[in-house]
Amino acid sequence: MTSEVELDERKLRQVLGRFVTGVTVVTARVAGSFLGLTANSFTSVSLEPPQVLFCVHSSSRARDGLQRAAGFAVNILGADQEQISRQFAATDSDRFTGVDVRPGRTGAPILTDAVAFLECRRVAEMTGGDHLIVLGEVLEFGVLSDRAPSRSSMAGMFGWAIPCPEQSVAHDRPVAPALADGSATSRACATGPPL
Ligand SMILES: Cc1cc2nc3c(=O)[nH]c(=O)nc-3n(C[C@H](O)[C@H](O)[C@H](O)COP(=O)(O)O)c2cc1C
Repeated sequence: MTSEVELDERKLRQVLGRFVTGVTVVTARVAGSFLGLTANSFTSVSLEPPQVLFCVHSSSRARDGLQRAAGFAVNILGADQEQISRQFAATDSDRFTGVDVRPGRTGAPILTDAVAFLECRRVAEMTGGDHLIVLGEVLEFGVLSDRAPSRSSMAGMFGWAIPCPEQSVAHDRPVAPALADGSATSRACATGPPL
């Protein structure tokens, strides 16, 4: 731990594991090639002007390309697309195999089977610890499907993954069964309840 503040990383993960996000695939086109990675760091920032951000790890192979690309697309995955999220996080395969795309205004590939997308031009970036924070202005966007959107947390992907063995927490929705290591099963809650 190099931080000035000595943190208990396990406890930090327990806290962060209680924050649920959607899952996206961030894509771009650089020198004629597509790049893409699964990212849940996507956040809406501003409506006027319309701006969003995502964070990419400094060690990611996608980082340099994302810094060179004119823009990027954020493809919001459906609850039924866990496989796509794994494909775009894997290191040993062509991430676009079997994935239908169409080019956006910046050339970034838009996943035609996503539930929604935003295409952005990159307007700013800054280092945030071990990540690069990339800010984009939205050029184009759309809802592509009424399918339920994905949800994930650090405690488990694509489900209601809030295992709370150390304290009593009231739930009014189903919770994924917790495993001994504090993680949660994901398949059991692959689609989650309706919004
Ligand atoms: C659900 C999920 C969310 C992720 N979110 C991010 C993210 O926000 N930023 C990031 O840099 N990597 C994220 N990753 C990891 C990347 O998808 C990818 O595995 C990693 O960048 C290594 O591949 P690369 O070197 O080709 O980028 C996430 C992975 C998963 C499964």
